[in-house]
Amino acid sequence: MSPSPPSAAGPLVDGPVLVVDFGAQYAQLIARRVREAHVYSEIVSHTISAAEMVARRPQGIILSGGPKSVNETPAPQIDPAIYDTGIPILGICYGAQLLALQLGGEVARTGRGEYGRTPLTITDRSPIFVDWPGDSEVWMSHGDAITVVPEGFVPTAQSPDAKVAALHDANRRIYGVQFHPEVVHTERGRDLLERFLYDVCGCPPSWTHTSIIESQVEKIRAQVGSSRVLCALSGGVDSAVAAALVHKAIGDQLTCVFVDTGLMRSGEGEQVEETFRRQFHVNLVHAKASDRFFGALAGVTDPEAKRKIIGELFIRVFEEVARDLEATSGVTGDTTDPGAVDYLVQGTLYPDVIESGSDSAAKIKSHHNVGGLPDDLTFELVEPLRLLFKDEVRAVGEELGLPHDIVWRQPFPGPGLAVRIVGEVTPERAEILRAADAIVVEEIRRAGLYRDLWQSFAVMPAVRTVGVMGDGRTYAYPIVIRAVTSDDAMTADWARLPYDVLERLSSRIINEVEGVNRVALDITSKPPGTIEWE
Ligand code: XMP
Repeated sequence: MSPSPPSAAGPLVDGPVLVVDFGAQYAQLIARRVREAHVYSEIVSHTISAAEMVARRPQGIILSGGPKSVNETPAPQIDPAIYDTGIPILGICYGAQLLALQLGGEVARTGRGEYGRTPLTITDRSPIFVDWPGDSEVWMSHGDAITVVPEGFVPTAQSPDAKVAALHDANRRIYGVQFHPEVVHTERGRDLLERFLYDVCGCPPSWTHTSIIESQVEKIRAQVGSSRVLCALSGGVDSAVAAALVHKAIGDQLTCVFVDTGLMRSGEGEQVEETFRRQFHVNLVHAKASDRFFGALAGVTDPEAKRKIIGELFIRVFEEVARDLEATSGVTGDTTDPGAVDYLVQGTLYPDVIESGSDSAAKIKSHHNVGGLPDDLTFELVEPLRLLFKDEVRAVGEELGLPHDIVWRQPFPGPGLAVRIVGEVTPERAEILRAADAIVVEEIRRAGLYRDLWQSFAVMPAVRTVGVMGDGRTYAYPIVIRAVTSDDAMTADWARLPYDVLERLSSRIINEVEGVNRVALDITSKPPGTIEWE
């Protein structure tokens, strides 16, 4: 590849900052920090070629940390041609060691690794250390160390056990830091990233929630033209924000469908109606299908069978609504007809896209979201949240004027209360659970804990137990309280709820919900438990 000097950066101005992933979760956090600095970033695999990177017109490249040692074989590499592109590069931890090694330096296992908070001394006022105090605290996590810097580079900082805690070749705009600026324990980490982004790369801090909305609105319009678009609203934050964005873009071309399965949380249907029909004036079809769902679930106790039944019925109801809509607009099924429904909105988020590492991620998630879309689906997907992290989706939701209650709602599984009712799902059991769940949500909110918990809800086991209320013996269902903290639902810990909150939950659920005579608490982490009971 022929080197292009920094002055050739003119046409590159709009591209993303690319964060190169070498494994584990490091890249995601860096990408989020870049975006918090209002610069658009995307994560790419380390297997991407330099030419492919250049084609994306990046304003800068950040090589992330990684779990391996650069001297292991095989250790993830990057196409060394990126060093000749003139694009500014920042290597972090593994990324710093890799660039040092690839450019002719040396990295060795010195036997003196550093883990955790570590003092750092600046030895050369690099452009990324502008305004840093001479001494500060950083977060380290390394076993190997850079022992020899490549030609053209100078060390710019040191720590007790790393002579080269940072290095640069300012002429080529290549920087490396052994520590992690993306973690909060690095006191001036945010400054460092901003200096790299704003001063070295010359990125304007222009990626804002308003700009996300504007660019998505344009994109949606360009994608769907004058076609009609359907969106399944679940009551959750992702589908709500996706719908609100698409509605802003194309107004009445959008129809939202809320399939009431009878398995939603308390007040969910009403809130969707209130928000979308009355507040946003969205075309909303409220498909009341709870009888059909309870009918299909009668006698079924196997968790996977329940999921399958709900997923398939959901699709059937959804397709019926789509067909009805086409029929009422005089459409014959010809998808080139302007009245045909050609597009389906999906609230796919960026982590789902990255995890699969390919565009097929959208499909996988869409299955998951609504419980199993069939492969022969004729809709094309509109995915306005495809590039966003969850916190960005929430911020966009706020900006679009969605109610806090929706924007900050805890996750809820596609099959709804059915996976929290162990054993047969009947309308009566769903009603009991819904009432108990509403009390859990209310008390958790009142205690100011709702946003700190990943999820907090009620579960109904398939047993009844004996109790005594007033003078009489009772034989009724217990309710189990499940409350967990988590970052991503992959792992979770049971929440240490305060005793007074537990006391109120117990007393209110038993007194207010007929059919419940006992309250228990689930104190299982994930693993070995899952968050949901089924
Ligand atoms: P588990 O129970 O596996 O759940 O620890 C992890 C997270 O995923 C949610 N969940 C689902 N979400 N469809 C969904 O859209 C589903 O079938 C489903 N099952 C579980 C769960 O609420 C938790 O946040």
